[in-house]
Amino acid sequence: MATYGVEGKVALVTGAGSGIGEATARLLAERGATVVVADLRAEAAEQVAADLVAGGAQALALAVDVADEAAVDQMVADTVARFGRLDAAVNNAGISGERVPVGDYPTASWRAVMSVNLDGVFFCTRAEVGAMRRGGGGAIVNMASILGAVGFANSVAYVAAKHGVVGLTKSAALEHAGDHIRVNAVGPGFIATPLVEGALSPEEVVMVGQLHPLGRLGTTAEVASLVAWLLSDQASFATGGYYPIDGGYLAQ
Ligand code: NAI
Repeated sequence: MATYGVEGKVALVTGAGSGIGEATARLLAERGATVVVADLRAEAAEQVAADLVAGGAQALALAVDVADEAAVDQMVADTVARFGRLDAAVNNAGISGERVPVGDYPTASWRAVMSVNLDGVFFCTRAEVGAMRRGGGGAIVNMASILGAVGFANSVAYVAAKHGVVGLTKSAALEHAGDHIRVNAVGPGFIATPLVEGALSPEEVVMVGQLHPLGRLGTTAEVASLVAWLLSDQASFATGGYYPIDGGYLAQ
């Protein structure tokens, strides 16, 4: 029987009610992990968790706003209270923000994107590291983007936050290597999800697909597969890395 190195692990995924987070939660459960499905939208989290349980996995839905540090601490505490420990975490919840040039960028959108996409990853990483240290180790994947490595017009807050996520990831990896906690960042190209399809017109979706040498948007399953590997025991020498999964976007 194939093993994937995540069997029996307790894994927490934020933004797991939709898109990349949902696909990751489903794949981890399929591979034998116990999954905490965390999302701002309680109903979406409950739906995904119910599906996982119906498929024979152990799962728990939690409603959380990752921009709220007390709620994030509670999310990790609830995970440990329910399943005894935390082995793996995917800090994936994110929003896209306004699409206007920096000279016109509204402060409210800047703050909203920073709170969810950067503060949220910080709050989650901090709380998860605490629980993992107590449990003897673990693995964290932070969801960055290709826009954690290069710029993109009309998305200044998103690009700045994602570059921040990559820096946070590297520092956390250095600080906690000795605690047997691996921390990596993933950099998807444009992936067909509600976030992208909501932010772009159908014509833009086709155009953006063509920005990737492979000529299309990626799929959530393609990203989930990399995330699941990074969380697994098979990735035991991988830490502090930034892993693009981008159809060749960054190779240009
Ligand atoms: P999505 O919009 O399909 O799903 C995001 C989920 O996060 C939603 O269920 C939403 O309710 C939840 N969420 C939003 N704000 C939250 C908060 N404050 N607290 C908790 N949950 C919250 O988005 P998608 O595309 O799956 O994106 C997931 C991550 O992947 C994001 O961090 C995004 O920046 C990143 N990403 C997405 C790419 C894409 O092309 N779709 C490309 C590169 C990175």
